[in-house]
Amino acid sequence: MKSAVTRLLRSSSPVSPSRLSAAILLKNNSKAFLSEDARNDSKQVEEPFKVEEAETVKVAPPSPDKLLVLGGNGFVGSHVCKEALDAGFTVASLNRSGKPPISESWADKVIWNQGNLLEPDSLKDTMEGVSAVISCVGGFGSDSYMYKINGTANINAIRVASDKGIKRFVYVSAADFGLVNYLLQGYYEGKRAAEAELLSKFTYGGVILRPGFIHGTRRVGSVKVPLGLIGSPMQMVLQSAKPLTRLPLVGPLLTPPVSVASVAKVAVRAATDPVFPPGIVDVYGIMRYSGQK
Ligand SMILES: NC(=O)c1ccc[n+]([C@@H]2O[C@H](COP(=O)([O-])OP(=O)(O)OC[C@H]3O[C@@H](n4cnc5c(N)ncnc54)[C@H](OP(=O)(O)O)[C@@H]3O)[C@@H](O)[C@H]2O)c1
Repeated sequence: MKSAVTRLLRSSSPVSPSRLSAAILLKNNSKAFLSEDARNDSKQVEEPFKVEEAETVKVAPPSPDKLLVLGGNGFVGSHVCKEALDAGFTVASLNRSGKPPISESWADKVIWNQGNLLEPDSLKDTMEGVSAVISCVGGFGSDSYMYKINGTANINAIRVASDKGIKRFVYVSAADFGLVNYLLQGYYEGKRAAEAELLSKFTYGGVILRPGFIHGTRRVGSVKVPLGLIGSPMQMVLQSAKPLTRLPLVGPLLTPPVSVASVAKVAVRAATDPVFPPGIVDVYGIMRYSGQK
């Protein structure tokens, strides 16, 4: 206020008496323009601050993200576990048979839990302290079994994860195969029901991967079967037959295969990168995000 009056007096331009008296009035009554509350506040500000001694709080160092892989002992699940461990995450798995009977170093680093997605109560404790879930649970059988294992089982897991406040959930689903869908009705209906549940419960952190055929090494008992022997040459044939994929019925059947390493890489990234876009990632998206040619 003082400077407003001084500025007016020092000003080289003529100052009208009314402007000068208004400035003086403003200076003298500056507090009169303040509300009762504001005046009380200004009184409080003038009083010296009472500084209370802060209590020392022990804060635990941030722990690395813990990922829960559902079906971590399966073909895709085991590669997801390895990819997540390599990236430095703490990894837990939940599947019906628990730890697989193999002596590989990655398997010793996974926290194995026995549980059944069809019994949702058995999942609650396992989901504690988990930052993201990746479900690799699915399978084939009778129509009703396929619906249960691809649909109901995953829907149960999505609901428990959402109730627990887990932020991200990745579901390894499957590409649409057009006519074949009719032959495997329970499989596809189950997949699509689980996808719908994921999109509604995890609007911002739900990612659906839709690979076609996945090639890589699958363990059958103690034997490793190199599915790559089928997958890779098939991929080469499909690449040279690209125009065929534009035909409405043949196209879906010729969805190019992806490597299990690519699926695992994208699954872990989708589960841990907060800016990975939610929604459906088709086979071409899996290839692009993983850098697979
Ligand atoms: N392989 C492919 O070419 C391919 C292609 C497209 C999409 N996919 C999809 O990718 C996902 C993984 O396929 P995959 O080939 O890795 O299958 P997989 O080898 O048969 O693995 C299935 C996993 O699910 C677990 N599981 C089954 N029922 C369960 C239940 N009720 N509760 C808890 N865990 C259960 C199994 O372990 P336990 O038996 O110990 O419970 C196993 O770990 C599936 O959803 C599949 O549809 C696969």
